Parts: sequence; structure tokens; C-alpha cells
Amino acid sequence: MINMDKKFLIIVSMTLICSFGQPIYAVNCGGEEYIDSSGVFWNKDQGYKGGLSIHPGRNKIVKYTNDPAIYQTERHSSDNFSYNIRLPTPGSYILILKFAEFWSSNANKTFSIGIGQNIVINSLEIYENVKDSAAYDVFIPLIITEDVVFWNNTPLANAIENEKIIVNFIKAKSNPKVSGIMLFKGKLENTDYYEQERRIKHHKKLFQHKLEIDEKFIQNQLEKEKIFDNWETFDGVYVIKNYPVTLFLTSILFYILFQKLMPKAKW
Ligand SMILES: *[C@@H]1O[C@H](CO)[C@@H](O)[C@H](O)[C@H]1NC(C)=O
Ligand SMILES: *[C@@H]1O[C@H](CO)[C@@H](O)[C@H](O)[C@H]1NC(C)=O
Repeated sequence: MINMDKKFLIIVSMTLICSFGQPIYAVNCGGEEYIDSSGVFWNKDQGYKGGLSIHPGRNKIVKYTNDPAIYQTERHSSDNFSYNIRLPTPGSYILILKFAEFWSSNANKTFSIGIGQNIVINSLEIYENVKDSAAYDVFIPLIITEDVVFWNNTPLANAIENEKIIVNFIKAKSNPKVSGIMLFKGKLENTDYYEQERRIKHHKKLFQHKLEIDEKFIQNQLEKEKIFDNWETFDGVYVIKNYPVTLFLTSILFYILFQKLMPKAKW
């Protein structure tokens, strides 16, 4: 009886894992061991080659996450660097890379991400997507077999070295960096991918809307100025525009003329 219950529990857990996916490995780049708000264990920084551990976001607020600690530290380099991840059992995985920008509001602060010799994310720009002090995750769906890593139905050359997957962070217009790496067993729909996409789209729409309102305001101002310009170019209106001054000067002129002419006038 007990055995049956145990078997049942195992089957239920297996089914849940299969339908919801689960993290297989996580590393808090540039940081310490950490247990996140969903109970996932993050290893302290390890498995890297090159780069420096830095804490640009220490004590800073990080939007769009329950786990700012992961984003507050990072591995950063003025050159390429890489991480290796132990090859998991064959299956469908999502490589989740976590980023946040704290220094720069500049566009064109880009770098790329490769697996083995292939670039899988070209010219990533974090600020462009979420602005600063905000979590931004990159989701890379992979199919992993015993000796090949597939991305987009393409086998990635040199993706596996000594039973480890090599993830490269490649300098582009700017220096590469990363705050967290997670290998998640499952599909995109088991991750926060669609939620993040919706949020970013919504924010971009709001921003666009704001731009359009500003644009309308500017158009209105321009229209007004155009009317004003027309008035000025229309000669007659010059008088209207300066009506009080014109009236004053004309009155003085008439008064003087009247004074001068009156005594001589013969009625
Ligand atoms: C960085 O990696 C890219 C892509 O693999 C390569 O083209 C470039 O030469 C590397 N830079 C250095 C300094 O090794
Ligand atoms: C980003 O780079 C592109 C292409 O080099 C350039 O046209 C654009 O002006 C740059 N944007 C900023 C904000 O620097």
C-alpha cells in the first residue's frame, strides 16, 4: 500500500516536472550562493573563464523581479569571456541569461552571446528593452543530445567541450556582461518569457503613446505659430497687432494737427 502511494507520488511529481519544467542549474554571476523567491538554489559565481566580478547594482532597486540580488552582481569584461555548464541529460532546455543595466542610458551599449562558435544573440542592448535598474532576461531554447546542442534546428559547432556547454559573452560596440545563468529543463511557455514580452510590449506602447501626445502638442504649437506668421506677413494685420500703439500715436498726431489747424480754421 505504502509502495503504491510512493509510486503515485513519484508519477505525480514526474508529470508536474514534465508539464511545468524545472531549473537544472543556476549560477549567480559575480555573486554569492543564493536561494531565490521560488526556492531555486543559485551557485556562487563559478565555471567562468575571464572577466571580473563586479557589483554595479549593489543596494539598488531592480524593477520587474522578486530577486534583485541576482541582478545586483555581475561578471563583466572589457573583452570576451565565457561560462561553462555541465552537459545535462538529453532533452529540451531553455538557457536563461539575466541582465540589468545600472551605468548607462546610452543606446548602442551592445554585446553578443554565442554558444560554441555560433552567435545566438546578436547585439543585445538591455537599456533599449527595459531602461536602467530593471531585470531583463534572455531566453535561448536549446535541444541538447548526448553530444550536440541544437538551436533553431541548427547544430552549434564546438558547443560542447569536455562534457560542458560553452556560453560566450562577446564584445561588440560595448563590453559584455551577465548577472545570472540558468539552465531550465522545459519549454518557453514554462518560463517567464511570454510575461516579459507582454510587459515590454505594453511599456513600449505606453512610451510610444506618450511620444505621440508630445508630437501632437508640438504640431499644435507649430500650427499656432504658422497662423501667427501669416498674420505678420499680411500687412494690414501689422496695424491690428500693434493696435494700442498705433491708436496712441495716431491720436497724438491728430491732436497736434488739430491744435495747429484749429486757430487758422475758418468756420
Ligand atoms: C571575441 O569573440 C569574437 C567572436 O568569437 C571574435 O571574433 C573576436 O576576435 C574575439 N575577441 C578577442 C579579443 O578575442
Ligand atoms: C547607434 O548606432 C547606429 C548605427 O551605428 C547609429 O545610426 C545611431 O545613431 C546610434 N544611436 C545612438 C543613440 O548613438
